[in-house]
Amino acid sequence: MELQHSTVLVTGATGNMGPYVTDSLVDSDADVIGTYVTEKARDEVATRAEHAEEISYYQVDLTDQAAVDAVAETITNEHGSVDHIVGLAGGFSMGGVSDTDGDAFQAALNRHATTAFLTVKAFADHLDEHSGVVLFSSDRAIDPVGGTLAYDVGKGAVRTLAESLDVELDARVNAVAPLLIDVPGNREAMPDADFSEWTAPEAIVDEVLHLLSNEGVTGQIVQMTGGQPEGAV
Ligand SMILES: NC(=O)c1ccc[n+]([C@@H]2O[C@H](COP(=O)([O-])OP(=O)(O)OC[C@H]3O[C@@H](n4cnc5c(N)ncnc54)[C@H](OP(=O)(O)O)[C@@H]3O)[C@@H](O)[C@H]2O)c1
Repeated sequence: MELQHSTVLVTGATGNMGPYVTDSLVDSDADVIGTYVTEKARDEVATRAEHAEEISYYQVDLTDQAAVDAVAETITNEHGSVDHIVGLAGGFSMGGVSDTDGDAFQAALNRHATTAFLTVKAFADHLDEHSGVVLFSSDRAIDPVGGTLAYDVGKGAVRTLAESLDVELDARVNAVAPLLIDVPGNREAMPDADFSEWTAPEAIVDEVLHLLSNEGVTGQIVQMTGGQPEGAV
């Protein structure tokens, strides 16, 4: 389905990648709906998203099924059907097996997999064979490097969720699995790293738009492990 005039729901629209994704969707003439959790992130996103004024933002904790169902009803009343979904909701966390307790493990599963599951479940009736869903897994879910166990498992669940939903739904469900994305938050957290080895956010966005609109791609987990456009770093 063409993105032009389609309605696209972007979860986690206030995080590092949110503005890159939502701006490019607005540039594609889509009607863009974003979700967020914290008011602080909502207030601050306007400084990073060029088209923040054109995006309809809704606050919802996507781990809470009743809240997800309620916001889905509001979105349906205000926007009609949702054609595509981009699931950015998530967030990084450190911790290996010895310093991850049961609560942290469960929280990571919820932050990554439950958010994606409840979102797609709430809008499943909107989606048809022309719809695209793109979830965010991680390279660490495919090639773990240690020290981020709960995160890896949460993202592994997202990977399997994408593959399972792709079998069950009429919509095409794919996922991207980036290693490190060159977003400001990562540069601040790792100022001494070699940024040229990280994937440019624009490259991630290109892939997301491709997966949303190319009706020949279905059930894929796209590993994205690096590369900046020449001269970009
Ligand atoms: N950045 C990377 O290098 C990298 C690499 C691989 C995979 N990823 C994954 O790619 C996605 C986008 O990355 P990012 O850097 O933009 O992430 P981010 O900056 O951590 O943003 C995460 C977003 O998810 C939202 N969120 C967190 N918990 C939620 C919940 N319970 N319900 C609803 N929304 C929730 C946050 O809302 P608030 O802002 O309101 O708190 C925020 O908008 C994430 O899933 C991340 O794990 C990122």
